[in-house]
Amino acid sequence: MAKNTDLTGMKIPQHVAIIMDGNGRWAKKRLMPRNVGHVQGAKTVEQICEDADSLGIKYLTVYAFSTENWNRPESEVGAIMKLLRNYLKDCIKRANGNNMKVRVIGERSRLSEDIRQRIAELEEASKDNTGLNFTIALNYGSRDEIIRAVKSMAQDYKDGNIDETEITEDKFSAYLDTADIPDPDLLIRTSGEERLSNYLLWQLAYTEFYFSDVLWPDFDKKELINAIVKYNGRDRRFGGVREE
Ligand code: IPE
Ligand code: IPE
Ligand code: MG
Repeated sequence: MAKNTDLTGMKIPQHVAIIMDGNGRWAKKRLMPRNVGHVQGAKTVEQICEDADSLGIKYLTVYAFSTENWNRPESEVGAIMKLLRNYLKDCIKRANGNNMKVRVIGERSRLSEDIRQRIAELEEASKDNTGLNFTIALNYGSRDEIIRAVKSMAQDYKDGNIDETEITEDKFSAYLDTADIPDPDLLIRTSGEERLSNYLLWQLAYTEFYFSDVLWPDFDKKELINAIVKYNGRDRRFGGVREE
């Protein structure tokens, strides 16, 4: 664990992406049902939004439910969706209280109608806020996102709206769910797992990774600061050479 928690003079990553993992193990350690871990995990998200904002982070993107998470038992998926309904409802109030702009990325048609409605309300209600840009990845899978982007680009090509000379990295990025959101500077995954699990594969091309053993419900400002301190020790070269 980093000892230095004074961020004076340190670079604050503009965009932090998080894979919030370990809710189930957190609950299991306490001999409680997995859902208790998800409830606690949702509280941690609320706190981390405030902490990220107070540290000067401008964009925070969290992985809440993956396209693969539907493979979990129906009872767990149902409990997560129920939690999500409440979370989205409360989020409107919090977003306006904290001046937070909330967006949701991922494929929406598989979500139930009332959840889609709540997402639309939340995005609309917070769209003019100028504080933290908070993005929730919901029924999100990076491969699914890329395929949707390719299909949409192919349609524009077919309709004569673009030609092949216009197909650039920037143009393609604009077809992704994360259009208008800069690529993450720092990715944090909790719970000791060290994989991407289909998260932001395109966007993380040059992101620095920080893997934490802390289980998501226990993640806090101190651990976020540890990640930022580590990030400051990294030499981001983007394929170039170190500047002496
Ligand atoms: C992350 O915690 C939350 C979701 C994927 C919805 P997990 O539920 O994956 O917790 P573990 O990995 O089983 O401990
Ligand atoms: C990734 O966590 C998805 C979310 C955090 C929402 P998982 O727990 O689902 O990932 P795997 O299955 O361990 O790779
Ligand atoms: Mg997990």
